[in-house]
Parts: sequence; structure tokens; C-alpha cells
Amino acid sequence: MYRVARTRSVRHTSEMSADSEGFAIPHAAQNRVADYQQVSAEFPQPELIRYAAGLLGRGALVAFPTETVYGLGAQASDPVAVRDVFLAKGRPLTDPLILHVAQVQQVHELVSVFPETAAQLASQFWPGPLTLVLPRHPDVLDLVTASQPTVAVRIPSHPVAQALLIEAGFAVAAPSANRFGRISPTSAAHVISELAGEYDLLLDGGTTTVGVESTVVDLSGEVPRLLRPGGVTLEQLSAVVDQIEYVERRVAPEAENVSAPGQFLRHYSPATPMVLFEAGDAQARQLIAALSERDVTAQIVKIPQDPVVAARELYQILRQADDSKCQLLLVPPTEPSGIGTAVNDRLFRAAQGRSLSDFSNESVRIALSIVLAVTA
Ligand code: TXA
Ligand code: MG
Repeated sequence: MYRVARTRSVRHTSEMSADSEGFAIPHAAQNRVADYQQVSAEFPQPELIRYAAGLLGRGALVAFPTETVYGLGAQASDPVAVRDVFLAKGRPLTDPLILHVAQVQQVHELVSVFPETAAQLASQFWPGPLTLVLPRHPDVLDLVTASQPTVAVRIPSHPVAQALLIEAGFAVAAPSANRFGRISPTSAAHVISELAGEYDLLLDGGTTTVGVESTVVDLSGEVPRLLRPGGVTLEQLSAVVDQIEYVERRVAPEAENVSAPGQFLRHYSPATPMVLFEAGDAQARQLIAALSERDVTAQIVKIPQDPVVAARELYQILRQADDSKCQLLLVPPTEPSGIGTAVNDRLFRAAQGRSLSDFSNESVRIALSIVLAVTA
């Protein structure tokens, strides 16, 4: 898989010049200011939003909150800025970006077809945690779409994202503000720990409310396809469209990544190996005991029962578990309905598809295979 080489040097904030309002100005795309500003999540300060939109317009990268997760934004028509987003994340160029806009009229400029289904879904769920994949307009950069015939678009509802997009007036390409394959950020602290020095400005609007990414629905084919479960649930979508295809736990073969982006097996992953267990606590405890006999520390990650709470807290829980320095995380799936479908999808990918049920019931054999996986 091709990745862009990292060549950029990071410059410290104190070396930056400032504009009339005292905000730092980046000198060139290669030198990140890494400015940090607290923004009101309900009533974003207009001068701060003007500053952020101005930076985007000059090719800078701005990390900002959306209702789902924090995004790392760049002006979508600026190829250097968009390339910098891939660089900052270490993201393969084959994985296309979502374009964010403030209003439906702007979507029409990014797509070549806006079908009736899109209009129906847009009127129900925009602004909100829904991304639509549609045939692209020829003016959209190849870099954004990974040269595919489609483009992903969304109108976020978070007041900071809305204000920023209204002020900018242009489309903003924004993936989640984390390193490629890692856990998505639901707070500014997460963005700093993932991408310190890789953005020009971080707008800290507190913790995000939905907690998992937007639902991605592909409307470019005959039947709508749910590519990524997220903030808008399958049940909600089914109430609007007659038919929708969804293959749970789909893993695209490596060769198919371009046509099925976002369906990587390894995604949203903690650094600590993780295994799903569906069999109940007794089997997990048996495994933990067998592992501890071999000096391997394992921990059961507790996921809240209520799927809405589970979604909101998921990435924070995974980060905390990752920081606990134990060698293996065991995680139960949550309620498989509503937003729980999205939570389970993330847990499956965070565990790289490994489930306790894939191993034998004999605890020693399980322990050994896990130990091997841990030390591999
Ligand atoms: O909630 C969200 O969607 C967040 C916030 C920041 O808006 N953004 C986000 O972006 O999750 P990212 O880049 O982390 O995930 C975008 C997903 C990827 O799985 C990507 O492969 C898929 O959308 N995607 C983008 N363009 C696509 C396209 N043309 N066809 C199919 N999938 C696409
Ligand atoms: Mg992401």
C-alpha cells in the first residue's frame, strides 16, 4: 500500500508572526503553527471562526469538532493542503476524504447527480452524522476522491463546524483527526495526542456528543449501500429508503481497497492487542487466569450497556484501556441495534476481527495462541 513520505519539519509557535487580531499566521504549508484556541461549542466566537476560516483559505490545516468526532480540515480545492492532510495522518492516498459543507446547495456543486433518495435522506438527516457517496463533479480533486468516480459529502450539525463552514463558504475536506488506523478523537486532548504539531490550529470545543463517525451511505449504485454504520442508524435509514444493503463485519480484500474504502480490517485500533469475546465473562475470566500464569496481563474493557452512551464513550474507553499498559484487551460487543451496530463495527475492526470464539475452548491453547499474538 502506498503512503506519502513524511518530509515536513515542525516549527514552534513562538517563531510565528501574528495578524492584527493577535492570531498567528503560518509562513508556509510546511511549517505548522500548532495554535490552540478554546471555542464555545454552543455559541462559537465569530472572531475565532473568522480566524479559522481565514487559515483554511490560506492552505492551513484546522482541527475542529463535529458532532461525531474531531476532523482535520483543509480547503478541498487546494491540492497542497489536501495532500498535507494525508501526510499529517500517514493515510494512504487510496483512502478518499469526506467533503464538508454548510448547505445542500453547495453539495450540488460537488456532485454530478443528486438523486431523489439523496434529497430524501438530506432532508431527514442533514445537518447531522450522515455522509452520502454520490457521483462526483469533474471539478472535485482526484486527491480527495482517490480518483474514484464518486465523492463523499456531509453537512455536520455541530455549531462550530457549521459556523466554520458558513464563514469559509467553500468545501472542507476533513478526515477524523487521528493517525491512520488509530482511535478517532472525541476531544481536543485526543487530537493533541494523535497529531501534535501537524495542524495549524486546533479549535477545542469540548467533547463530541455522538462519539462515533458519520454513517456512510453509497447512493451511486442501483440500491443504497451502507458502507459504514455510524451516528444515523440503519433503522432510521430504513424508515426513509425502501431498501438498503448492509454487510456486517465486511472486510475488503487489500486489492479492493480503492473500490471499498473504509472497510479495512485494522482500524480504530488501540496499540494494545484486542480480542472480542461474545461468550460471557466466565470464559474471559478463564482466559485471564490462564494468561496470568504465563505472566501476560489481560483486562476486560467495560462497554456501557446503553448503546448511545457506549458510542459517546467508546473511543475514550479504548484510549484509557490502551494507556493501562496491560498486554491484552478483551472486549464484549454491545447491544446490536441502533447506534450499537456502529459501536460493534468499531470494536470488530479495533480487534482486527479477532474473536475469542475463533480460538479453541481449551483455555491453555487459547492462552498460548493469544500470547503468541501478543508477542508476535
Ligand atoms: O464523522 C465523520 O464522518 C468524520 C468527521 C470529521 O466528519 N470524518 C471521518 O472521515 O470519519 P474519515 O476520513 O476518517 O472517514 C471517511 C470514510 C472512510 O472510510 C473513507 O474510506 C470513506 O469515508 N469514503 C470517503 N470517500 C468515499 C467514497 N467516494 N466512496 C466510498 N467511501 C468513501
Ligand atoms: Mg477516520
